[in-house]
Amino acid sequence: MLHYSIVLDVDPAANAISARTSVTAQATQDMSAFNLDLSGLEVHDVTVDGIAAEFSRSGTELTVRPALALVDGQEFSVGVSYSGTPEPIDDPGVPFTTLGWHSQGGAIYTINQPSGAMTWYPSNNHPSDKATFEFRITVPATTTAAASGLLVDETTTDGRTTTTWRMDDPMATYLAAVYIGDFERVEHGRLDPAGPLLRDYVPRDAAPDIGEALAVTADAIGFLEELLGPYPFGAYGTIVVPVEFEFALENQTLSIHGRHVLSPDIIAHEAAHQWLGNSVALEDWGDIWLNEGFATYLHLMFDAEHHGMDFELNMQQLHAQLPFFAATPPKGISPGELFGPSVYFRGAMTLHALHLLTGDEMFFAILGAHYDRSAGGTTNTEEFLGIVDEFAGPEAVNVVESWLYSETVPDLPEPRAG
Ligand code: ARG
Ligand code: ZN
Repeated sequence: MLHYSIVLDVDPAANAISARTSVTAQATQDMSAFNLDLSGLEVHDVTVDGIAAEFSRSGTELTVRPALALVDGQEFSVGVSYSGTPEPIDDPGVPFTTLGWHSQGGAIYTINQPSGAMTWYPSNNHPSDKATFEFRITVPATTTAAASGLLVDETTTDGRTTTTWRMDDPMATYLAAVYIGDFERVEHGRLDPAGPLLRDYVPRDAAPDIGEALAVTADAIGFLEELLGPYPFGAYGTIVVPVEFEFALENQTLSIHGRHVLSPDIIAHEAAHQWLGNSVALEDWGDIWLNEGFATYLHLMFDAEHHGMDFELNMQQLHAQLPFFAATPPKGISPGELFGPSVYFRGAMTLHALHLLTGDEMFFAILGAHYDRSAGGTTNTEEFLGIVDEFAGPEAVNVVESWLYSETVPDLPEPRAG
């Protein structure tokens, strides 16, 4: 996939969409048919390079048969027109929530990770197949719409407002987001002239404590830029939805947080994912520790600094608790454990073990190389271990591997002297 253009006409009161998604893609083999992922909704027509194509549906597979077969290397475009009420889906990877398009608490929002994107647009719904995106969302003029990326146009005619959003940096399908409701856009300007535009979306009737909680964002971005390099996209911010779910999600450039999930550590966590998870994406969900372990380690560092706590001591205490709540290895997990405590906390402790072993300078060089070398693309655990080997040698690789794979929680290495 190269580019998605998603045009949504939304009736929020009826929770109904009338939509057209156009994709440009490049064939990686000769083919007479291909599949897109789409769950529910009614498909009206499909075109390939502007010519009507036959299509059929089975489960969440939309099979398209172009009038002319495609050849290896050929760039082509697909247009899909569809409508209906998007229905959230269940996914064994996230037993604690439904996924996809939600209409709840007077707002519409999307929570895709990992598989929910197919509830509202047809895609190759795989984390490794990143593409650029454009969103064009039409809603009643009394309602606010937002999406991933930069707001590039806003036009109102006959009581309906269309906003256009561009995400020119590659994005995985699960990070594409749309939000509709009674939100106020709160602008905070830029961190520095070349830095990202900081803006949040909060419920218009929000209590002032929401704005106070979000004020930590600029500090978190600054902290992360010191460690990882410049923020990867043109904008960042948080949308707080008036719904009581107990998590947050790093949708690209505009993370979604439940109403009460606004502590500094979680704000820093979702910001960290913009570098690690979003810019550097996964080739495979089995490597989710590369997202969650890294974001957790960075949020724990930020939180200790923010509250003036002793980071080393915090990590020692966390290490002592791991056997009781995050004992299992963060690699080789079952689908139900994708977002479990082992991935987050034993994953973070894996990095702490490496940090203790190598000392600050080498550890931050490894972290920087891990980000730099895959920024805008994808990576995997083998690549990370290759960087560890290159900077710190095979003994460090053994330590990281024991943290990733051993059935019991390893001891922490003695801190490197100096
Ligand atoms: N990646 C999210 C985080 O930063 C986890 C969100 C869990 N929910 C979900 N639908 N995947 O913690
Ligand atoms: Zn996370």
